[in-house]
Amino acid sequence: MNSDTKSLDPLFIRGLFPAGLWEWAFFENAGGSYVPKTVIERITAYMSENQVQPGDYFPGASKAFERVNTSYELMARMIGAQPNEVVIGPSTSFNVYVLANALRPLWDDDSEVIVAIQNHEANSAPWRRLSETGIKILDWPVLPDTGSLDIKVLENLLSNRTRLVAFPHVSNILGAINDVCSITTLAHKAGAQVCVDGVAWAPHRAIDVKNWDVDYYAFSFYKIFGPHMGCLYGKHEHLLAAKNQAHYFFADDDISHKLNPAGPQHETIAALQGINDYFETISRHHFDPPPNDILTRQKSMFTLIAEHEERLASMVLAFLKTKPNLRLFGPLESSKSVRVPTFSFTVEKKTSSSIPKTLAKKGIAVSNGHFYAKRLLDSMGILDANDGVVRISMAHYNTYEEIEHLIKEMDYIF
Ligand SMILES: Cc1ncc(COP(=O)(O)O)c(C=O)c1O
Repeated sequence: MNSDTKSLDPLFIRGLFPAGLWEWAFFENAGGSYVPKTVIERITAYMSENQVQPGDYFPGASKAFERVNTSYELMARMIGAQPNEVVIGPSTSFNVYVLANALRPLWDDDSEVIVAIQNHEANSAPWRRLSETGIKILDWPVLPDTGSLDIKVLENLLSNRTRLVAFPHVSNILGAINDVCSITTLAHKAGAQVCVDGVAWAPHRAIDVKNWDVDYYAFSFYKIFGPHMGCLYGKHEHLLAAKNQAHYFFADDDISHKLNPAGPQHETIAALQGINDYFETISRHHFDPPPNDILTRQKSMFTLIAEHEERLASMVLAFLKTKPNLRLFGPLESSKSVRVPTFSFTVEKKTSSSIPKTLAKKGIAVSNGHFYAKRLLDSMGILDANDGVVRISMAHYNTYEEIEHLIKEMDYIF
């Protein structure tokens, strides 16, 4: 118990992961985060003790059911939802693809969907593909210099034919936070729903779907310290209405089955409890006593995380700003209300691919490319999208010392 701690204790947190990981200064968190021991233990326990079909047929099956079911409960409550409002499928890309197909039969042929160019392709392609069935797709463009979304532009795109607006809560390239409440309110006024990609938000801030009033919200567990899975939240009445995409005998209210034609991956769903174990351990270490309610606990923990990440971000940003030969994309401020600690840039007369290779020789992990937000890079005039941008993305377990190491090595290169 660490009742006096007013700021995040990353050294304690690092002790919750396999020790060998910290040999690298890891800044590729936006690609996928590290996994704490609790998650590894949960998946191992499931596979070694309960790798049977969940049910109530015999004790092993009942235990398997309980483990899977508890994960559903916890993951739903963690984001302020009910278990019958979440689908846990193989990935966000998959979940949004299924959702788009499940909603299409509910829409008239003259319907329109507005898709933000800032999206990762996961929240873009599935909607765009509906154009093959007569749906009109309208692009919500970005401002080419900054890559940011302007809500006034959206206002002009909305009409009584708009069925849905698909946009990211946070850009996985820019780190910029979009105003999810204002965008949702505006879409609702026009009678449209929203599908928000929360993948790049979820590792950095608490999710509160009811407070935001979003219709659909998608995020991926492997970016929030868990296994390779995706979660799709939807308001219960919307998911009830969505058309079955799986076996014909699933009832309309059997949401987790009808919207996951892949079928549930039991051991990885069971492992999601390990994410909750991890967050609980962090909360117990920093708060005495920790909040009882899971969503309140998430909010207080992520407040500490956001403050720590803001400090990391301000160190990186202060350095990047001193380099005139570098084009930084996204907000030029580090405030936690404006951005998460993900930075993307290009460097004059250097390929982006050369930089991760050089840093890797010094034990620093970053990466380059378009990170499946190719439309955004194209809009910002990046001619070779495959070489793309260099991306440095931090998580709460990164330390000041790691940032100092990164800055020192980057200073030799730029
Ligand atoms: C912002 C964003 N959205 C969606 C995805 C896709 O998630 P998944 O791999 O679960 O399909 C990613 C993956 O990098 C992402 O960064």
